[in-house]
Amino acid sequence: MKIATILGTRPEIIKMAPIIAEINKRNINHVVLHTGQHYDKEMSDNFFRDLEIPAPDYNIHVGSGTHAKQTGLMMSGIEKILLKEKPDIVLVQGDTNAVLAGALVSAKLHIAVGHVEAGLRSFDLTMPEEINRRVADVCSVMYYIPTEESAINLLAEGFSRKNLFITGNTVVDACFRHLEIAKKRGFGEESLKELDIDGMDNILTLTMHRAENVDIKERVTNIIDALKELTDVDIIFPIHPRTKNTLEKFGLFEELNSLSHVHIVKPIGYLDFLLLTSKSVLILTDSGGLQEEAITLDVPALTLRYNTERPETVAAGGNILVGANKEAILENANRILNDKEFADKMKNAVNPYGDGDAAVKTVDAIEKYYHEGKLNITAPEDIMDSFTREMTQIDADITVSEFEQSENALVHMVHDGVKMRFPTDDMNLKGMMITYDKRK
Ligand code: UD1
Ligand code: UDP
Repeated sequence: MKIATILGTRPEIIKMAPIIAEINKRNINHVVLHTGQHYDKEMSDNFFRDLEIPAPDYNIHVGSGTHAKQTGLMMSGIEKILLKEKPDIVLVQGDTNAVLAGALVSAKLHIAVGHVEAGLRSFDLTMPEEINRRVADVCSVMYYIPTEESAINLLAEGFSRKNLFITGNTVVDACFRHLEIAKKRGFGEESLKELDIDGMDNILTLTMHRAENVDIKERVTNIIDALKELTDVDIIFPIHPRTKNTLEKFGLFEELNSLSHVHIVKPIGYLDFLLLTSKSVLILTDSGGLQEEAITLDVPALTLRYNTERPETVAAGGNILVGANKEAILENANRILNDKEFADKMKNAVNPYGDGDAAVKTVDAIEKYYHEGKLNITAPEDIMDSFTREMTQIDADITVSEFEQSENALVHMVHDGVKMRFPTDDMNLKGMMITYDKRK
């Protein structure tokens, strides 16, 4: 079996690292393609170093540009390499332009696509990421899904439960594996050593880079106005290059940089960042990955967005959406800083993203599909059968598999009387309302 992994940005390198390590551990033939969307050392190379994974086999060097330009360049670069390498499966992760380009190209070459972190939905089509993740899901054959809730998003869109694997999120694998290493090593970046972070006891880690925040002057201004009043904390702000550019363009960079409690530094390596966030009393962010890391590291998070494709973190109580609303930021931040009971409740939120074995589960699923021949994409040659979509209440003790066998059906959705559930093979359906596709 040969696997090709496509990645292009900082979070993809971090979240694919545990899977790359697992593939290499099993000696599976593997090539890694970097699209070159992120190219600064601080946004790319440093992560291969910190996460101890080999440098990519190919780099397409697409660089920065409009969505169409970036995606187009990626598509033609990826196509050339896939035609040469002929992998059995292409892995894409998350929702960046690399995912869109990689999934589209592979699907059209009839190469199976495995989507890591599939099924997330913000239901906000102004986010480029929402478009990317939806298109990638349409093009995929296998789905490695962080939570039951995301799996249900896919079921609701009509995807077969058979191809959905709830694995947890590899961000937990990366966090667990590297936090201890980071703690032993201590801070490595000069910028952090100079700040004497170890001597600070009230740290707020801030990151923001979402186009819908930082490209809109009114929104960044509101956020900065809130930061000005949060003088009880040391705000450490590793600034994303997009954000640095737009703050400079809006003439806001110097003003923010001059505040004595705000410390702007370049983007920092993964080990330093893990150490920084784990020492923080609060994380203020619009990052996707950081919402997951916050709940994994037991640090309360305030998310600078009006919606999230990670609603599990909010439901669990570890994350609050504050948008770009100055009052909401200040009210919630001050409550976390001054109300211990409130902060403890957020810290104790149960992590919905698994136990740190997502990479093992993902590679297990890939090997299983490969051995079962399910990665071969061919046009169906059996005469098309028709089916009916039905719904029923189950009163007997019967598992999903048994029901499917006896009815020649595929169970689609299960409702336990309170909420939708993901139908696993061995789930007992007694008392459940189900929808299913029944073959004629
Ligand atoms: C991209 C992803 C986003 C992800 C983020 C992770 C898309 C549509 N967006 O957003 O989903 O959350 O990465 O960080 O794929 N730049 C540099 N150096 C670099 C990279 C970028 O200076 O190494 C600057 C350039 O001015 C560029 C800007 O940052 O125009 C934005 O970069 P881009 O890759 O287009 O989008 P991100 O905001 O990084
Ligand atoms: N991160 C990092 N250094 C930084 C900022 C973030 O290592 O200076 C890591 C962080 O631990 C997380 C990931 O980058 O795993 C999140 O990336 P980003 O916020 O750029 O993208 P998103 O997750 O929003 O797609």
